[in-house]
Amino acid sequence: MTYARIIGTGSYLPKKTLTNTELERMVDTTDEWIFSRTGIRERHIAADDEKTSDLAEHASRRALDSAGLQPADIDLVVVATTTADQVFPSVACLLQDRLGIHNGGPAFDVQAVCAGFVYAMDLANKFIQCGVVGRALVIGAETFSRIIDWTDRETCVLFGDGAGAVVLEAAEQPGVVSTHLHADGRYHELLAVPTGVSINYKQVLKGEAYTQMQGSEVFKFAVKCMVDVVDETLSINRLNKSDIDWLVPHQANSRIIAATARKLSLSMDKVIVTVDRHGNTSAASIPLAFDEAVREHRIVPGDTIIMEGFGGGFTWGSVLLRM
Ligand code: UT7
Repeated sequence: MTYARIIGTGSYLPKKTLTNTELERMVDTTDEWIFSRTGIRERHIAADDEKTSDLAEHASRRALDSAGLQPADIDLVVVATTTADQVFPSVACLLQDRLGIHNGGPAFDVQAVCAGFVYAMDLANKFIQCGVVGRALVIGAETFSRIIDWTDRETCVLFGDGAGAVVLEAAEQPGVVSTHLHADGRYHELLAVPTGVSINYKQVLKGEAYTQMQGSEVFKFAVKCMVDVVDETLSINRLNKSDIDWLVPHQANSRIIAATARKLSLSMDKVIVTVDRHGNTSAASIPLAFDEAVREHRIVPGDTIIMEGFGGGFTWGSVLLRM
């Protein structure tokens, strides 16, 4: 049996930060409201000339460095993103060229919004398990600030930009133990950018492609999905909650994370939280949090970890892995 093991991690946050106090000057909001409802204090915002592929490149180079590999060692590039630089080619192809990976291996983007990274991990894991590739670079990267209406207080306080990456390598021991993906398209209207190439294109041309969300509806569904997918992951693998060293959840809202932990009877000491400093970075949030915890030596070799994501679609899923 072949498994995919994480052998390197990296992440990148744009230099510019946007604090709640600064947002108070932009929309009718307060630091107190934002922090008490979301747990967010600040988020990072990409510079005008900084693209999703730039963020992805920084995170990828750091992940490759930590794995002790050169770009040419990578056989597969998968980028989870909702905010690709351009309609096509994919960020993965742009990144493959930028990194100098010219070995003809596959490269593609995955679009599952905030669940994108767990979808990307699932795919890369399967490529490795099937023996199609030996090493994969899996990235979550977003410039979500570009699809935010900065006059809409209900959404603009929530999101941020960033990128996180992992290098996966074929190994005899796990590694990724199991992945669990779900979607329910009946809820597509609750969280969406309802403009694009083949719908409401004139709004896109006017620069009005913005995220819309029915927050409290999404909140309830998010907690249920996050709890259910952890239960599913534990039960399929015949594990107890006490077998989990770390939960690395999608960082949308500290109240969603805390409610999930409470329903699972998991102590917050076992949960990685970065939403206070990153905001919701969509597909980047899990690998950003994961890399931070690895670099701070909180996540260490031998640990058992569940990553879980939830996003527009709705899409959700988890990855159970051993370091
Ligand atoms: O990443 C994908 C998944 N995304 C999520 O999981 C996000 C899920 N949803 C949430 O995190 C929360 O629903 C929000 C943080 C978006 C909102 O929190 P809430 O406790 O559900 O608040 P609410 O939407 O019920 O709004 C409560 C009040 C409203 O005023 P009224 O109608 O009670 O007078 C809003 O107009 O808060 C008002 N409000 C604000 N006030 C100050 C909404 N946004 C703001 C704001 N500042 N930024």
